[in-house]
Amino acid sequence: MNLQSFVTSPSNIAFVKYWGKKDSQWQWPANPSLSMTLSNSKTETSAKIIDAKSDIIEFTNGLGKTDKGLKHLEWLRTQFPDFKNKKLHIKTHNTFPTACGIASSASGMSALTLAALSSWTQQFTLKDLAKIGLDQTKLAQLSRMGSGSAGRSLWGGYVAWEPSTNAHQQSIYQAYDEKHWSLSDLIMIVDSTEKKHLSSAAHKSAWSSPLFSVRLTNMDKKLQLAKEAIAEKSIEKLGEIIEQDALEMHSVMMTSSPSSNYFTEKTIEIISTIRALRNKGDLEAWFTIDAGPNVHVICESKNKVQILKSLNMYFPNLNILEDHVGQGPTLKQK
Ligand code: DP6
Repeated sequence: MNLQSFVTSPSNIAFVKYWGKKDSQWQWPANPSLSMTLSNSKTETSAKIIDAKSDIIEFTNGLGKTDKGLKHLEWLRTQFPDFKNKKLHIKTHNTFPTACGIASSASGMSALTLAALSSWTQQFTLKDLAKIGLDQTKLAQLSRMGSGSAGRSLWGGYVAWEPSTNAHQQSIYQAYDEKHWSLSDLIMIVDSTEKKHLSSAAHKSAWSSPLFSVRLTNMDKKLQLAKEAIAEKSIEKLGEIIEQDALEMHSVMMTSSPSSNYFTEKTIEIISTIRALRNKGDLEAWFTIDAGPNVHVICESKNKVQILKSLNMYFPNLNILEDHVGQGPTLKQK
């Protein structure tokens, strides 16, 4: 039997950012991170075994990079040698603009990992995969080898990734599920074109920043405080942590050698406006920014409509994607 698998896997937005690796071969992060799984920003991927000499990855909307995906399929085969000769035809697309600072590698690599393993093993539900030893924890560990942030896309809600003291004992787990607290992410698209610096290369240069060692001394505490803020559903506490953490990560990026700057003039204008409005008591929203120029505005979902209205008023020419906390991946037979 050779049935086709179909996976949808969500992107996630980090509240406490993963930046820098202690070991890039084993994807051992320099610090713990915490993210919110998104609902609308997803990758949809199908996989079918084909009679061919090599894998094919097809981006059905014409956008995307295949190298990282092909490399990850080869790495998966080193873990599961039985599938060595089972080449795959992968079809994939994102429901959001690729390479714009919304982590397309998180949804893309988690979707690819699941679709490949589902197709190879001919198991078409997460339950059935778990029965043969491929539970969500295992799938998260395999996905992070494709892209670190992808490991956090295996669950809905709020997901943590902790490095531990050994590259092979990292833990990735759901801290709170999506029903615990409804937060929204209003993604202000400053630039939807391909990003200039690939984050994998930039991760490496983090160690050269004089600020990086300072950042690392405080990350365990920051993860703890962020989890407490989510437990208490305190948007003020969480907001302060996520803004500080994003600016800290970007300061590391800017002071690394080679240095990367993802901010544009528009990015700065948006973050200044958000802070000014918030200080006036007019906007209960905080920002975070990944490896791209776009600004993620985080707020409680109950305030979303009003906040979106203000953002549209101040930035009438910007495309704003609406997203909110969501569930983990889905899997079925196509
Ligand atoms: C800024 O997961 O894209 O989005 O592991 O090299 O593939 P690789 O990097 P990637 O890095 C994501 C960095 C970030 C912060 C985060 O998502 O935690």
